[in-house]
Amino acid sequence: MAVVLAGGTVANPDGAYRADVRIEGGVIAQVGIDITRAGDCVSDVSGKYLLPGGIDAHTHFDLPLSDGTRTADSFSTGTKAALAGGTTCVIDYATQFKGESLRRGLDNWHRLSDGKCFCDYAFHMAITDWNESARGDLPGVVSSGVTSFKMYMAYKGSLQVDDGVIYDALGQMASAGGLLCVHCENGDVIAARTAELLRTGRAGPELHPLSRPEAVEAEAVSRLIAIASLVGAPVYVVHVSACASMKKIIEAKMEGSRVFAETCPQYLYLDDSLYAPGPEAAKYVCSPPLRGRENHGGLWASLRSGLADVVATDHCSFSFAGQKDGHLDNFSAIPNGLPGVENRILLMYKGVAEGRLSLPAMIRAVSYNPAAIFGIYPRKGALIPGADADVVVLDPSGRTVISAGTQFQNVDYTPFEGMEVPASIESVYLRGVELFRGGKFAGGAPTGRYVQRGASGALG
Ligand code: URP
Ligand code: ZN
Ligand code: ZN
Repeated sequence: MAVVLAGGTVANPDGAYRADVRIEGGVIAQVGIDITRAGDCVSDVSGKYLLPGGIDAHTHFDLPLSDGTRTADSFSTGTKAALAGGTTCVIDYATQFKGESLRRGLDNWHRLSDGKCFCDYAFHMAITDWNESARGDLPGVVSSGVTSFKMYMAYKGSLQVDDGVIYDALGQMASAGGLLCVHCENGDVIAARTAELLRTGRAGPELHPLSRPEAVEAEAVSRLIAIASLVGAPVYVVHVSACASMKKIIEAKMEGSRVFAETCPQYLYLDDSLYAPGPEAAKYVCSPPLRGRENHGGLWASLRSGLADVVATDHCSFSFAGQKDGHLDNFSAIPNGLPGVENRILLMYKGVAEGRLSLPAMIRAVSYNPAAIFGIYPRKGALIPGADADVVVLDPSGRTVISAGTQFQNVDYTPFEGMEVPASIESVYLRGVELFRGGKFAGGAPTGRYVQRGASGALG
């Protein structure tokens, strides 16, 4: 039996317009007016927006750190939280640790996620040990549907790779058909500044941002762009936090480079005043750190104009009690990262409601662009015939107050505590099945499917 979501406004990457959506067999059969047929089950969504399911292109679920700490959210809790917040597909960073092959890293992530996910999921592959085996494995990994990779210019001594590695890997990516995503911060300078701060007894969590100021990020962005231009390969800069870095990317775009920019809700809403002295500052330890408020306007403008491509969360959750608060005497040992996978869609809609960007611009940043850049479009990323029926019914007359007390994220705080959004998520459909209704989970066992991705749209 087909389901028709009738009377709503469809928000697609190319515009928002009055249309019904007819769903059959888990896919979108029709989008238009007067499309209901005899026997259809009609759901009245008058006054609501119908959005394509969100795609969060940057999560870390079940990520182990070198000291044995693990992220608070597993694939199970993280994907349920994603779905609750209108994200129907995540692209998580499967990680190859030192001494592992790419294949082993990928197998580990499949083992962690298999049968556990409530929303659909795909993987990028973070490479921390670039060697002959990794070079050899790359084409096979790409043809298995993992078509994007990540390297870190920061986290010296653990995840960081050097510039020669990035140069060589970009060459291999170009021939294998992979897109390289890069964490841009100068890890050597961070290590030196961290040592300097700790040597002089400045070790509290509030000192974290001092160890990695904006210039450390902007310099790494410039260096990456220069390296990529030598190879002629596209690159995707993850979690851009500051205007200085975004400007470098925009300049490179203007000069014809294929450089893609991702930013995150924390860099659009939160600021460095949260690093006041005291234990609470540990909650906001993430890298890059939160920046001055003066960055917000420029980052929103880059999204409004389409010069920034994607809003992802970089969801990497650690509880305050027992995880973040275990290292209050040494900021450099606090596990890095923030939760947010549950909040992205509503926080971006808040931007729409406040006139910071249009609804179609929001859809491009949270759904269409990640689908296109990471090889999932047209299966996902827009409400069009033939696409998976991943649909979010958003009520613009609702109201949501973000709070740890009501969240699905398995973490004891939210950095967005108390933030009000003038909307609520009424329903979330995954491939035609309504899995959330009125904020309550309406499904059973996990039904999220692994998504084998095609070639990145960034390469064309
Ligand atoms: O602080 C952050 N962002 N942690 C997650 C890992 C990363 O750098 O993306
Ligand atoms: Zn990163
Ligand atoms: Zn990350």
